[in-house]
Amino acid sequence: MQASQPPPPPYAKFLRDDNVSQACKDLLSSLPSDAGWNGASLHLYQGFWFFPWTLKGVLACQSHFQAHPSDILLITSPKSGSTWLMAILFALLNRAKYADSDSQRHHPLLTQHPHNLVPFLEVKLYLEQEKPDLTSFAPPRLFATHLPYSLLPQSVRNSKCKLVYLCRNPKDSFISLWHFVNKLMPEEKGRTPLPDCLDKFCRGLSTFGPFWEHVLGYHKVRSEMPEEVLFLTYEEMKEEPRVHVRRLADFVGCPFSDEELRDGTVERILTMCSFDNLSALEVNKSGKLSTGPEKKSFFRRGQVGDWVNYLSAEMADRFDQAMEEKLHGSGLKFKDK
Ligand code: A3P
Repeated sequence: MQASQPPPPPYAKFLRDDNVSQACKDLLSSLPSDAGWNGASLHLYQGFWFFPWTLKGVLACQSHFQAHPSDILLITSPKSGSTWLMAILFALLNRAKYADSDSQRHHPLLTQHPHNLVPFLEVKLYLEQEKPDLTSFAPPRLFATHLPYSLLPQSVRNSKCKLVYLCRNPKDSFISLWHFVNKLMPEEKGRTPLPDCLDKFCRGLSTFGPFWEHVLGYHKVRSEMPEEVLFLTYEEMKEEPRVHVRRLADFVGCPFSDEELRDGTVERILTMCSFDNLSALEVNKSGKLSTGPEKKSFFRRGQVGDWVNYLSAEMADRFDQAMEEKLHGSGLKFKDK
């Protein structure tokens, strides 16, 4: 008797034969590959690991995205709090339109998922279409990407647009990604074993990984180009949100006025974008993104230090060793409690 085939992963529809160029197929077959956390293969392209469907979006984005100097790119490793910062940046840039209580009732964040307001370049726009029409985006255009610095389209580097990099302590990023991967797997396959995934993550084998090189790449350029790169951590955003939202506003060129600082504008943005508020909105609780994942899968616990509930002391040691080895000498430290 033939074993029943598990359903294909949600993104797989983007890899239908009629959808992928011969050049992409040839490239895929020439790249080193290894089994990712859910068994699907990851391919090593220019030093980073990608699922085949992601690589399709990466190649299209690298070839066709034309950055403008006024663009703002939100850059993250997967599961670093992208959804939170998408909401904050969107609310920050559009605050003048939704300043009074009447217009606040019609705020787009109340009816649209943050990923639809701030689309990903390579895992949405350039995945769904090879050359998407971006003319409807008014400046400053706000996009998200998981691309490592060395893989950004050349036009991004030439344009000197603003890059906001958000990272998160690797143990929480890892646990968050493990949950996300499990949610994408067919139920009958059960959970993917945590120790195997941990071993892969520490060795660098994770989507858009190595995590270490991703974060080190942006950490380095932020010291070289502080006007173009803002480097934030999830933990500092959690600890002092008001301070860092003000930093963000200054960096993207729309600082809060004295009046806004007095009249509660910062607090309104933070409340609107809080985990409790966003995760309770109907639009974020039901349905799926056009690329496949359930909208609610981007809201889980939203806390610092959740890794203690999943990693044994031995696993945490293994993680700390990898962190020490990879980040040693960089000056980069993460709070993980
Ligand atoms: P956990 O799985 O640890 O809860 P990304 O948006 O990059 O995919 O990251 C998802 C992580 O950010 C998840 O972490 C999710 O719960 C958390 N998150 C989502 N919205 C948030 C918010 N408004 N505030 C804080 N954390 C949030």
